[in-house]
Amino acid sequence: MVMQRTFVMIKPDGVKRGLIGEIISRFEKRGLKIVSLKMVKMSRDIAEKLYDEHKGKSFFEELVNYVTSGPVVCMVIEGDDVVQVIRRMIGNTDPKEAPPGTIRGDYALSKSENVIHASDSIEKAQREMSLFFDKSDL
Ligand code: TYD
Ligand code: MG
Repeated sequence: MVMQRTFVMIKPDGVKRGLIGEIISRFEKRGLKIVSLKMVKMSRDIAEKLYDEHKGKSFFEELVNYVTSGPVVCMVIEGDDVVQVIRRMIGNTDPKEAPPGTIRGDYALSKSENVIHASDSIEKAQREMSLFFDKSDL
């Protein structure tokens, strides 16, 4: 067992389309633990920090505009090898490449509006959860 925590965020299109329950349910049914959960309207400052690694890329402005366009649902999830397990559950960045059965493969078609974010490493999980949660929430 490699117990880990990761950061997951349902993006504005996922919230608008009423997919919050469906997505959380998938994580619970998989046997993962929801450690903390909240809905927020992200500031530009936090969005730019969350997507720091993409600063300067062609899609960066559009990405920041999109993730700040409406409320998002942020959560910290715990489980065995959870960083990799959840990346597999969400599927490829481009939903057209994501297999059916994955969250993006079942609920998205647009690469820029692809329903969900999840950290891709333990280090980034720590950094990303600290943008949205206090130590006392965890
Ligand atoms: P990235 O970190 O590469 O993907 P992931 O969300 O799977 O970790 O990119 C972050 C987000 O940026 C991605 O979810 C959607 C957006 N994006 C685009 O709009 N166009 C692109 O070509 C890429 C690579 C990402
Ligand atoms: Mg990423």
